[in-house]
Amino acid sequence: VTDKKGIAIIGYGGFGAFIHKAWDAMENARVVAVCDSDPTRNPGGVAFYDCVTDMLSDRAVDIVSVATPPSSHKDLAIQAMQAGKNVLIEKPLALSERDGELVRQVARDTGRVATVNFVLRYNPIVEMLRDIVAGEVFGKLRRLDLRNYAMQETVPEGHWFWDPRTSGRILLEHGVHFFDLAAMLVGAGVNKAFSLGVERKPGMEDRVFAAVEYNNSVIGTFWHSFTRPRELETTTFHFAFDLGEIDMVGWIPLELRIWGWTDKAGVEKIRSFGSAVELGAEKIEHIRAHSSDLYYDVDYLIDTHITLPDAKLDVYASGLRAIMDDLIAAIESPSHTMRVTLDDALEAVRVAEKATLFAHPTQPAVES
Ligand SMILES: NC(=O)c1ccc[n+]([C@@H]2O[C@H](COP(=O)([O-])OP(=O)(O)OC[C@H]3O[C@@H](n4cnc5c(N)ncnc54)[C@H](O)[C@@H]3O)[C@@H](O)[C@H]2O)c1
Repeated sequence: VTDKKGIAIIGYGGFGAFIHKAWDAMENARVVAVCDSDPTRNPGGVAFYDCVTDMLSDRAVDIVSVATPPSSHKDLAIQAMQAGKNVLIEKPLALSERDGELVRQVARDTGRVATVNFVLRYNPIVEMLRDIVAGEVFGKLRRLDLRNYAMQETVPEGHWFWDPRTSGRILLEHGVHFFDLAAMLVGAGVNKAFSLGVERKPGMEDRVFAAVEYNNSVIGTFWHSFTRPRELETTTFHFAFDLGEIDMVGWIPLELRIWGWTDKAGVEKIRSFGSAVELGAEKIEHIRAHSSDLYYDVDYLIDTHITLPDAKLDVYASGLRAIMDDLIAAIESPSHTMRVTLDDALEAVRVAEKATLFAHPTQPAVES
């Protein structure tokens, strides 16, 4: 028990309580403290602080999870690292590229481990998609299109989410998850980014669209709206390749819908996902397929769905444990590279900021 890493959560709102539960089921870590400026948030059962400085002097704390609203992430992460703690920062890393660079500089100067909670990178469905893209199972990736129709219930009028100074607006507050996922899959930096946004009422921009051109000529489009009834919330991330298409379904993805032409190596790649995965491969007559300026030799049509059997919240919680495990591995072994680095987190902020400033040039996402 004593060699478990001690976690402190700063910001015990909806998400703070969820991560507490997820991490309490870990063998190598446990939540030892909670810090919230609002004393009514004290969950009981662990040390509670309403002052960050007091919490940072608690020697039982090895890792600080910064789970406050976005505008405070930069300062709290810096303060925690300067007090000798490792940090798992909620997304976004910061509200501007410049602020994100400051966090990265302090991580370098203090030698603390720091990362951002891009939990989607630890999802098994995302891992399969990453293998399909990297293995060019359906040829080259050309386009991706996110359709995120989120519920409005969790962000009622007056919530900090609608205040650009606190949240940075939707692309910084929420879009970063998907900019990060796209960057990982596309494997190239961003050349151009712009956005459009419309308001439900003055000061409440609840629908945004962003378009991004990557340095390898992939084009990505991203839609987010926070308008749906809870029951009708849907998220679909569409990927188009030279020889097929994949839809990844769910904000916490639980399903891949796969369709396209491939070769034997492509079939083997999908087979490697395990016997629980329905291969859905049909042998076809050999084709020398021409797409764009490329030729592919294909022998199979794949038409299948891969679904995770687990419930959404279980997949979410195991992703949270996986990123914490990854962070602990990096604390214990300096040569360990985390799946999400601060460079990744900074790139997501850079793209979100660039796109946001296109629609709001006179209103920078945030002044630091
Ligand atoms: N990675 C994910 O999947 C995911 C999901 C949901 C939310 N989040 C992120 O978690 C963060 C918190 O979101 P939430 O929905 O829980 O917000 P919330 O408003 O429900 O909770 C925030 C809490 O932080 C406290 N707080 C604010 N400033 C503080 C400070 N300076 N010091 C101490 N306490 C402070 C507030 O009193 C409140 O209890 C946001 O950055 C959000 O983007 C991440």
